[in-house]
Amino acid sequence: MLDRLEQQPADALLALIKLHDADPREDKIDLGVGVYRTATGGTPVFACIKAAEAKLVAEQDTKAYLGPEGDMGFVHALMPHIFGGSDPALGGRIDGMQTPGGTGAVRLAVAMARKAGVTRILMGTPSWPNHAQILADTGVEMVGFNHAKADGTADMDALRDALRGAGSTDAVLLHGCCHNPTGVDYTNDQWDEIASLLAETGVLPIVDLAYQGLGDGMEEDAYGTRKVVAAVPEVLIAYSCDKNFGLYRDRVGAFYVLTANAEDTAKAMSNGYALARANWSMPPDHGASAVRLALTDPAMTKQWTDELDSMRARIRQVREKLAASSNAGAVNLAPLGTQQGMFAILPLSKEQILALREDHGVYMAGSGRINVAGLTMGNIDKFVSALAAVSG
Ligand code: LMR
Repeated sequence: MLDRLEQQPADALLALIKLHDADPREDKIDLGVGVYRTATGGTPVFACIKAAEAKLVAEQDTKAYLGPEGDMGFVHALMPHIFGGSDPALGGRIDGMQTPGGTGAVRLAVAMARKAGVTRILMGTPSWPNHAQILADTGVEMVGFNHAKADGTADMDALRDALRGAGSTDAVLLHGCCHNPTGVDYTNDQWDEIASLLAETGVLPIVDLAYQGLGDGMEEDAYGTRKVVAAVPEVLIAYSCDKNFGLYRDRVGAFYVLTANAEDTAKAMSNGYALARANWSMPPDHGASAVRLALTDPAMTKQWTDELDSMRARIRQVREKLAASSNAGAVNLAPLGTQQGMFAILPLSKEQILALREDHGVYMAGSGRINVAGLTMGNIDKFVSALAAVSG
């Protein structure tokens, strides 16, 4: 029976990790999968996480099962950072659960929306490739609209048209900050308008917040999510700690639901637990426990904030240096200076992307997405010259 299965291609983005690792060139540059790198090219464990892990190992006295909701101390510790205000749970209207990474949270959001009757999800494209895969696998139709204009700003007309043309069983998937893959975020004014449009049209928002703290700051990057939460009765939020706690392989995420009242939220969460049980039963504990400890100890929280600040500053420094480069051949890098987060899309052909890899050891996604954080002050010049060579 299993011989009926068709061979599937490897995930194109994850396959780049192995291709890069196998390349013997010492000056190769990895701008593929989205992991933050320091000025010397490493991705070390955060010092605050090391401290939290040491405390966890010393104090943890059992590894008995929790439940499908995972570590609720972790889920609650994140809430003030995401939702702000004196009552981040809005009187019980918001509740959440731990998920295996942000991917688990997106999967749960889409599955819950589908269970509630959503048949189509509107989504700005290009988007993170796994969004479309999750939608296809969950049996929800994807309706794409253009996300970014050629001038490097968000295409609000396309979003307005998509929302105004939406039906009663449509949801919309929005990136909370640091848009992946374009780096093109909505401005605060645009978020104000989006929140009003969502209230007016009744389209269910699903916010994917996977890079909080890597754009303008933890508070600043929550602006859109908070605006939407304040404007409409129902929101689904998928959260990732992969980047802002550096916990990539530990798979630490959370899923939050806002409904009109505490009763509906409890009902929605019971569906979340049932979906989790049928998918992964319970999320992995270690990374989420470390985040809980880090966020409930003021000294560790301060250490985390400092680490995040320095990551953001380095990303900004790389973006500014790229934006100031006028010698990248036909590639205009100027828009990177105003875009946000780890990613940018460069207008390169498949042949140019292949030539960058084969002739210059520069690895990037097939879409032309680069992970800006993969560049250092030591290799930007080589990267810019390689761009000039292939696009010149
Ligand atoms: C990325 O977009 O590179 C990251 O979110 C990693 C992933 O899982 O795709």
